[in-house]
Amino acid sequence: MLGRVNHIAIAVPDLAAATASYRDTLGAHVSQAQALPEHGVTVVFVELENTKVELLEPLGADSPITAFLAKNPAGGMHHICYEVEDIIAARDQLSAAGARVLGSGEPKIGAHGKPVLFLHPKDFFGTLIELEQV
Ligand code: CO
Repeated sequence: MLGRVNHIAIAVPDLAAATASYRDTLGAHVSQAQALPEHGVTVVFVELENTKVELLEPLGADSPITAFLAKNPAGGMHHICYEVEDIIAARDQLSAAGARVLGSGEPKIGAHGKPVLFLHPKDFFGTLIELEQV
């Protein structure tokens, strides 16, 4: 079911500072910031040769990463995104196996304009998993 790692996401308290750190200290190429109100985050992508790192900052009052940052005020690894060929088939197979799909269970359009879903971290060893159809 799983294809490549599409990205690894890190929640940060200050996106501008995190962007500067990755760009200036680590010497990476960082994309322009993109507000995703439907997901409650603003994101940039650190573009690497083999994958991307997504830096996430809360957007709006009920951002899904606000509680995470309250527990991890310096920031921390938030989720890993795996590519799948067919997100509906993947969802149905995972649901049938007892895994919990977050939210309504219907894919939302993610930062790359493609459908995404999230799986409950308690079902996958404490790691929030995002699936993205590519
Ligand atoms: Co993501």
